[in-house]
Amino acid sequence: MAANLRDEQLFPREFVRNDGLTLNIYQASIGDVGCVVWDAALVLAKYLESADFLNGRLLQDKTVLELGAGTGCLGIIAATFGAKVCITDLESCLPLMQINIRENEEQITGQIEAQILDWNSHEKLTFRPDYILISDCIYYSESVKPLVDTINRLSEPHTIVLCSYEERTSGNKPELQRHFYELIEKTFHVTEIPQNNQDDFYHSSDIHIMKFTKKT
Ligand SMILES: C[S@@+](CC[C@H](N)C(=O)[O-])C[C@H]1O[C@@H](n2cnc3c(N)ncnc32)[C@H](O)[C@@H]1O
Repeated sequence: MAANLRDEQLFPREFVRNDGLTLNIYQASIGDVGCVVWDAALVLAKYLESADFLNGRLLQDKTVLELGAGTGCLGIIAATFGAKVCITDLESCLPLMQINIRENEEQITGQIEAQILDWNSHEKLTFRPDYILISDCIYYSESVKPLVDTINRLSEPHTIVLCSYEERTSGNKPELQRHFYELIEKTFHVTEIPQNNQDDFYHSSDIHIMKFTKKT
């Protein structure tokens, strides 16, 4: 994605919380996969408003780290529920994440910052997350192990990882997903959030929300 995004390249996607609070998440017409909001992000964002999260209130004062945030949509929504959030992605996504933080700052009641975090960088963060959020990040083979290593490195024993993805059947996608689970199950307990616990409208049989907790 070009570092200098121009206004005419941006178009908003409205996200309306169940209580009516409205966010405008800007997407870019030119760029890589991180420049649009993916459906798996919307499904997970809406799950953050579910009864499992006390309609979002559970996020108040929690620390939330988002990996591969793209537009930052998911993390920004967590920050509107009072969470202390760090949204991360490759350097090329930083300008769009910063635009979206700025455009929605009036709705943010918690704290939020955008940072560069490349899964290949082995970087440590001084951020101890209660939650790690990931949506639609299992999509190319070279990234599967670095992504799992990053989740491992940045998780605390108490961290809950929520990972949503759209199940794809084309090409090597089933193999990628299988490999991801093979690696993640070495160090995490893995459970799936039932569709009954998800949003009444924003759920789909081919979009999964998985929960990982560290094995002790
Ligand atoms: C399909 S997009 C999903 C974006 C966003 N999570 C969503 O669901 O709308 C995948 C994201 O992973 C990011 N990504 C890919 N490789 C990465 C890496 N090595 N380190 C950090 N982020 C990476 C991309 O830049 C992109 O934003």
